Amino acid sequence: MPDLQSTVDAIAAEMAARPDRGDVATYIPELGRVDPGQFGIAVALADGRVVAAGDAEMTFSIQSVSKVFTLTLALGLAGDRLWNRVGREPSGSRFNSIVQLEHERGVPRNPFINAGAIVVTDHILSGHQPKEALGEILRFLRFLAGDETILIDRAVAASEERTGFNNRALANFMKGNGVLDNPVDPVLGVYFHHCAIAMTARQLAKAGSFLAHRGRHPETGFSVVTPERARRINAIMLTCGHYDGSGEFAYRVGLPGKSGVGGGILAIVPGKASIAVWSPGLDAAGNSHLGRIALEKLTARMGWSIFGGEGDAASR
Ligand code: DON
Repeated sequence: MPDLQSTVDAIAAEMAARPDRGDVATYIPELGRVDPGQFGIAVALADGRVVAAGDAEMTFSIQSVSKVFTLTLALGLAGDRLWNRVGREPSGSRFNSIVQLEHERGVPRNPFINAGAIVVTDHILSGHQPKEALGEILRFLRFLAGDETILIDRAVAASEERTGFNNRALANFMKGNGVLDNPVDPVLGVYFHHCAIAMTARQLAKAGSFLAHRGRHPETGFSVVTPERARRINAIMLTCGHYDGSGEFAYRVGLPGKSGVGGGILAIVPGKASIAVWSPGLDAAGNSHLGRIALEKLTARMGWSIFGGEGDAASR
């Protein structure tokens, strides 16, 4: 197997040289200001080591990648009852589709499309003040990443509060169908703020590590979730983590992954590694353009696809 550090160094150099960078998200005005020239990659290993290259120490808005962590928290609170109010099928639609939600009488297809993540947030909020719920999410990420400096980017959250009309429509429609327990405003407040958490690729790779190691936090040995739950969260990441780009991501990369419109992707190599890549330019489905290409190269070169792939030298 090739050396991991030289492999990620080579990929970072290849990504830096590419002219095709995708387009930054502009529907959240604050994200539209980010320089698309950046690329970072970090790979967290079983012994807690992190192998990184490029802009791996730059913070970015994790956006929908936060949905992996809120799903984990909500499953811890509600257990399988969560699945009464949100499905676990790929959507085949855009992440913010309203049409699909109406068809399905307000029950979102999966916890990673916006409507589904809003239901998950509603669960976390129940019985708490919005500040407490957000504190819980932030503490969870800080513990997982082993880093107390992780913060919410207030400017990004405010930007989305001002312009999140589509999310407000989704939430109101679900409220009208009895799918949300709490009032729409505080649910969206918590949702916008957890999407606005800012992390580096290094922090994000570490935070995802429990999913690569049967639910165990590698550095402390603490059991974050059961092995069964880690396996199931990975399954949902594989089938739903890239919205209507999930099939393409499985085909090209072959790992459970979750993207965000900030340009981050968290990908899990079960038993081996947790990978975070970040490049702010997006493809047509709203997923990081270079992030996906970098992961495709990394899995091919390391033989890390969950579908096998030793010897696919032609795609390297
Ligand atoms: O709700 C939104 O639209 C954003 N806060 C998050 C969307 C997102 O990251 C979709 N992922 N690619």
